[in-house]
Amino acid sequence: MPEHSGEHLKVLIRSSAIQKRIRQVARQISRDFKGERVHLIGVLKGACIFLSDLIRYVDLEVSLDFMAVSSYGKGSKSSGEVRLNKDLDTSIEGMNVILVEDILDTGLTISYLCRVLQQRKPKALRIAALLDKPSRRIIKEVKADYLGFSIPNEFVVGYGLDYAERYRNLRDVCILTLPPS
Ligand code: IMP
Ligand code: MG
Repeated sequence: MPEHSGEHLKVLIRSSAIQKRIRQVARQISRDFKGERVHLIGVLKGACIFLSDLIRYVDLEVSLDFMAVSSYGKGSKSSGEVRLNKDLDTSIEGMNVILVEDILDTGLTISYLCRVLQQRKPKALRIAALLDKPSRRIIKEVKADYLGFSIPNEFVVGYGLDYAERYRNLRDVCILTLPPS
């Protein structure tokens, strides 16, 4: 494991467990929207790996788009301010939209995105998240309709999730411990 100086990684969720759970989540989506089309919107960059695995197991007519957001600051803390860096390519009016996120933490990012997307009149708007840290939630109403795993309050990396843009390529989700500062 290519750890950066002083940083320590410990496996929390193995790749095999992630893959198994994603197939279950995809089946649930396929059942819920049987006979309909769904439009998956990935939140860049963290969700890209989850989304690319998920979409291949969804047994429906599917289309895809991306949004990019940043919360100010690039460390391990969410500042609460969200900026939209890339908007959708096409209209979502009347569509069954599933917003795909890597992790729900404070809920600030998703609640901002849901507000933006709801104004565009989708037929349905659902949230799929690989991970959830419910103990960190600030916006209490935010919950995933489709969830991979609920995890304790630890900073995690891998399977798309980064620390300062590193570790997205790990196949497992790992707990990252930083060197004492
Ligand atoms: P929220 O707005 O606080 O819910 O934060 C959501 C975003 O913060 C996620 O999309 C991630 O980019 C980032 N984030 C929150 N927790 C973690 C973590 O444990 N590891 C890596 N990124 C995280
Ligand atoms: Mg991030």
